[in-house]
Amino acid sequence: MTGSDKKVFIKTYGCQMNVYDSSRMAEAIAPAGFAETSTMADADLIILNTCHIREKAAEKVYSELGRLRVLQSERAKDGKQTMIAVAGCVAQAEGAEIMARASVVDIVVGPQSYHRLPHLLTEAASGKRLLETDFPENDKFDALPERHKAMASRSPSAFLTVQEGCDKFCTFCVVPYTRGAEYSRPPTKILSEAMRLASAGVREITLLGQNVNAYHGDEGGRVWSLARLLQALAEIEGVERLRYTTSHPADMADDLIEAHRDMPKLMPYLHLPFQSGSDRILSSMNRKHTGADYLRLVEKIRNARADMALSTDIIVGFPGETDEDFDATLRMVREVKYAQAYSFKYSQRPGTPAADMGAQVPEPVKAERLAELQTLLLEQQMEFNAACAGKRMSVLFEREGRNPGQLTGRSPFLQAVHAKADISMLGQIVDVDIISAGRNSLEGVINPWRQHDSDKKQNYTMSMA
Ligand code: 5AD
Ligand code: SF4
Repeated sequence: MTGSDKKVFIKTYGCQMNVYDSSRMAEAIAPAGFAETSTMADADLIILNTCHIREKAAEKVYSELGRLRVLQSERAKDGKQTMIAVAGCVAQAEGAEIMARASVVDIVVGPQSYHRLPHLLTEAASGKRLLETDFPENDKFDALPERHKAMASRSPSAFLTVQEGCDKFCTFCVVPYTRGAEYSRPPTKILSEAMRLASAGVREITLLGQNVNAYHGDEGGRVWSLARLLQALAEIEGVERLRYTTSHPADMADDLIEAHRDMPKLMPYLHLPFQSGSDRILSSMNRKHTGADYLRLVEKIRNARADMALSTDIIVGFPGETDEDFDATLRMVREVKYAQAYSFKYSQRPGTPAADMGAQVPEPVKAERLAELQTLLLEQQMEFNAACAGKRMSVLFEREGRNPGQLTGRSPFLQAVHAKADISMLGQIVDVDIISAGRNSLEGVINPWRQHDSDKKQNYTMSMA
């Protein structure tokens, strides 16, 4: 099914890297005549970009495929063909099973092979069903078309994958199996992608990697650390803000911590998963750090940048977790104080070492612990937000708000901020006075006096674009 005027609908599950991959997939198939649609029923091609990290995420894919079967036959009544592709980590882990279980699926394509989508679409047009989940020798990024300006400029904030895969092998995690071994993209490739983004109006770049701070890009035989890469990116005209995610505590190098002290463009927000507060569980998780190591690291980071907002990932109910182990997790949260956090019930993932461990924790115990933990995390999140009221913050306006005349953007600490603002401020970084704080967002006003300053700022940013 090639040719022009075809529509593709991409549904993205899971992490930010999938969001990034989805936009690269859209770019990869655009030359074959596929334009993106936000209406599934209009699509000639539907791609599910899936997540395998927890059980529920994978189940969602199968129920979606059930709904797609109905949609496909509805469209067939109007004489329209609908091709269905499953991409992402479920495709990688369960590709053969998907092919066997879901006859509605035409193409299964893993996260390291989606650059082959145009070819796969041509093949599938002749009625073949295709499974492509190899880890190819060549770099998919080399095979993908350069980022399209129109796509890149859809938002002033963009993701950019710099590192993929993971060699850490935490015993609960599928990532080393679905995304493969750790790989860092060469700095020159990343810099040229960032330049394209900046020239398309992007002001904030979030560098992505499953283990992003383990980044070690090869530049003419010399190794660049993540800190070195961030410094080079900060030099690009138009790039005003930099972020990165997700980091492993064991790879939080001194030069990266110092970058938070020295680089104004590096935002004071860090996602640093600790998973469990109990050393016994951390060791069984193969996390390569203790609770005390993590606390020392947090202290070092806050000494470098006092206002650093921290976020984390936590698992409750890992095999063998006792009440005492769980208490240690609560203590860790109380000690660190998080601006935001993600917490999960442990989910047995086939093929991972923890799935076969004894002493699996009963579901009701996991649910109870999760509820208690989430109450505490929410309290901390609200406290963090409330402390922002009365402060002035720089906000990058990303999109129109829900209410007319309102824009929504992000604070340096990644909070959503709503403010009455002129549409011309979209894509601009503006000083906003925060007047109230909710659970998930802040409300602000743009001081008319300040408006004058931000006008100047606007001209400055525009002239750089
Ligand atoms: N069960 C529950 N949570 C998990 N995560 C990864 N694997 C599992 C699992 N099997 C969580 C970790 C990780 C985040 C992305 O997802 O907290 O940091
Ligand atoms: Fe998974 Fe992160 Fe552990 Fe790697 S470091 S195995 S991605 S949880």
